[in-house]
This record gives sequence, structure tokens and C-alpha cells, in this order.
Amino acid sequence: KNFLGGVKMSRERWSSRSIFILAAIGSAVGLGNTWRFPGQAYQNGGGAFLIPYFIALVTAGIPLLIMEIAIGKKFQAGAPTAFRKLGKKKGFEWLGWWPLATSFAIVAYYCIVMSWTFNYLWHSLTLAWTKSSSADFFYGDVLRLSDSPGNLGGLNMPLVIGLVLTWIFIWFSIRNGVKSMGKIVKWTVPLPIILLIILVIRALTLPGAIDGINYYLTPQWDRLKDINVWAAAYGQIFFSLSVLFGIMVAYASFLPKDSDVPTNSMIIAFADCLLSFVAGFAVFGTLGFLQQTSGTAIADMSITGPGLAFVTYPEAIAQLPGGLWIQVVFAFLFFLMLLTLGIDSAFSIVEGIVTGLVDKFGWDKKKTVAGMCFVGFAAGLIFATNAGLYWLDIVDNWVNNFNLILIGVFECVVVGWIYSAKKLRNEFNEDSNMKFGPWWDFMIKYVTPLSLLGLNILFLIDSFK
Ligand code: PHE
Repeated sequence: KNFLGGVKMSRERWSSRSIFILAAIGSAVGLGNTWRFPGQAYQNGGGAFLIPYFIALVTAGIPLLIMEIAIGKKFQAGAPTAFRKLGKKKGFEWLGWWPLATSFAIVAYYCIVMSWTFNYLWHSLTLAWTKSSSADFFYGDVLRLSDSPGNLGGLNMPLVIGLVLTWIFIWFSIRNGVKSMGKIVKWTVPLPIILLIILVIRALTLPGAIDGINYYLTPQWDRLKDINVWAAAYGQIFFSLSVLFGIMVAYASFLPKDSDVPTNSMIIAFADCLLSFVAGFAVFGTLGFLQQTSGTAIADMSITGPGLAFVTYPEAIAQLPGGLWIQVVFAFLFFLMLLTLGIDSAFSIVEGIVTGLVDKFGWDKKKTVAGMCFVGFAAGLIFATNAGLYWLDIVDNWVNNFNLILIGVFECVVVGWIYSAKKLRNEFNEDSNMKFGPWWDFMIKYVTPLSLLGLNILFLIDSFK
């Protein structure tokens, strides 16, 4: 019984350790691996991008992933409550709300990308973008996305329908808490991985693929001098691992108290990075093929932001040898992969927010899920207007490359210095065979926060130059 005399509900639990790992991988692996990562690599120096990316993984991604999972498991609560308990004097609850607010901004636009994907999936049945060009399909007739700021220009119906479908899907997946999520991730994790493997094989066996792979893996060293490349790498790592959003805290809060944090975290990080790397082969192999058929060099394709998965890739698919139905099949597989990859990331964000609210205010979980889905849908409508792409770019850039990094700095200071990195490490080491040494404390106390802080200062200077 709790102090009010009611029956204290015991906390929801994952049905097994592997379901937790699957769900966390589901959250981490998403559009970030297949859409955002290759695009970032393309814009930030090809193979050279892999270096800041790897450095970001080791100096920030992994230490923070472990930290968030350790905190969630220890305090058995969503981010705001966990950070409140961690600070003893209740001073750090805000550090839990901040990531949740960030999550909200992310989920609003993540779902619009899901909505584009729904539309592409539907139109892949007729390869609609071959009627004019895939750029016209995206920016013109069908999705009517433009990146000019003004003129919201009314809502674009196909996007709204896609958005509704996405949110229904999200609601359905998490409506019964971790139990229903567990059933969904059994499908939404393995299926897209199988599809990805098929797409990689197809890409690598296309004529010209090797040129694309060369582009992907050949470093443009001079790009490493550009601070934006480094900021992009850190931003990409956090986005991809879903850290600093309070999600991993929430997911880990449904683990039993004696769970193994280090091993689970390493599996999640490894799976996520591996899939990004592999997805690069599918995308760049296909770009190499497109270079051959279109005669435009990859470097001159000037792919920006969303263009890679939604303009260039569909264009390449429409050139595939073997006739129309082969093209339809691969288009369908590609967008089905994006959709199933993205859905468990999307619902993890909502679950992170819901867990935070429920643990703090004691609200009914089912109602909170339904309410959040509605609010998230409403907020996403701005991205379903003609100016949607413009807003998406701004939100994506600031939220990931600036705000997120700042959250990282604060989390490190609070956990590393105020709570004590060593104490947390001793706690999570206790339940694991994989013991982390003092280097982890050193990362959390010095390396991670200082490198993040430096990056943010340089990013600011650069933005206002
Ligand atoms: N990690 C997910 C991806 O790579 C996206 C995501 C971002 C999920 C933030 C949760 C929170 O697509």
C-alpha cells in the first residue's frame, strides 16, 4: 500500500531482457540511420565524416548512453523524476524536462517525415514520381514541399493523411505500455534489417556501384577543419543513439533493478552504428549507379537535407534494370523499410515523454498516451504546410546541433560532479560482467562536457558570423 492508503501499483516491466534490447535498438535505429546519416556523410566530407563520427561515439555517445540507462534503471522513473531524485535537493528536475521538451520538437517533425514515407509507399505502387521527376513529386505536384519561410499556404492533404496514419500507429503501439511495445518491436526491428540487407545486395550489384562506395569511403580530409562537420557528427550520434532525449532513461526504468547496464548499452550502440554504416552502402552504391545512368557526378548531385532518400534514391530506383515491376518492388521495399524503421523510433519518443509525465503527476497512462498523440499530431501540422520544409530544417539544425549538445553538457556536470560519476559507475558495474574502468568517469567529468561545450561555442560563433 502506498502512503495514501491505495494499492501501490508495481512498475511495468519488459517481458524479457532481449525485448528491452530490441526496443532500445528500435528506438535508436530509424530514419537517422538510413536517411539522416548518409545525408550527413555526403555533406560533411564522405569518408572523412566517419572520423568525427567515431570520435563522437566514443567520447560522448557511449558514455552518455550508459549514463542514461544507468540512471533510468537506478531511479526506476522517467527523466524528470529520475533527475529530481538524483539531485537529492530536488534541484535538477528541470534537467529531466528539458530533454522531454526537445523530444516533443523532434517527434513533431519526425512524424512528418514518416508521413512523406507513407505517401511514397503508396505512390511506389505506380512509381508516380517517374511521371515527371522525383524532385517535382517532392517539391511540386504531390507533396508540394517548399523551403521558403513565409506563406504557410494551407494544409496539404496527403501529408495530413500520412500524419494521421502515423499517429494512429504510434498510439496503437504504445497504448498498453511496454507490453504492447514489446509485441510490436518483435516485428519492427528485424523486418527492416532484412529489407536493408536486400537493398544493400541490390545496390552493390548495380553497375557503377563501386564509384559510389568510393565516394562514401574516400575521406575529403580538408573538411575536418570545418567545425560544422564536427558539430554535425556529435549531433548525428545523439540523434541516432536516441540519447539526451530522456528516452533511454524511460526505457531503462522498466528494467529490473539488477539488470546489466554496460553490456546492454554496448549492444545497442554497436547495432546502431553498424546499421548506419551498412545503410551507407545501400545509399551510396545506388548513387554510384545513378552517376552512371544520369551522367551527373555524385559530388555535383547537390543533395541537401531530405533530398537523398526522397528525391535522389527514388530517381535511381526508377532507372533500375529489369523493367517496371522490379522498380515497383524495390521502391516498395525501400519505403516499407523506412516506415518500419521509423515507427519504433517515433513511438519511443512519445513513450519517453509519457513516462516522464506519468511518473511525475501520477496520471493515467492510457489517457496520457492518447492525449500526447493528439497534441503531437496537432503540433506536426505546421510541417504539413507549404513552408513545412523550411521549419523542419531550422528545428532540425538548432535542436540537434545546438540544444542537444547543451543538454549533454549539463547532464555530464550534474551526474559527473554533483552525483559522482564514480558512484554511478560502481553501481552499474556491480550487476555486470563487463566492468567499466575509471576512464568512464574521466569521459563524463571532463572529455564529454568540455568537447561539447567547445563545440557549442564554435557553433554559435559560426552561426552569427
Ligand atoms: N534514433 C532515431 C533514429 O535514428 C531517432 C530518434 C531521435 C529517436 C530522437 C528518438 C529520439 O532515427
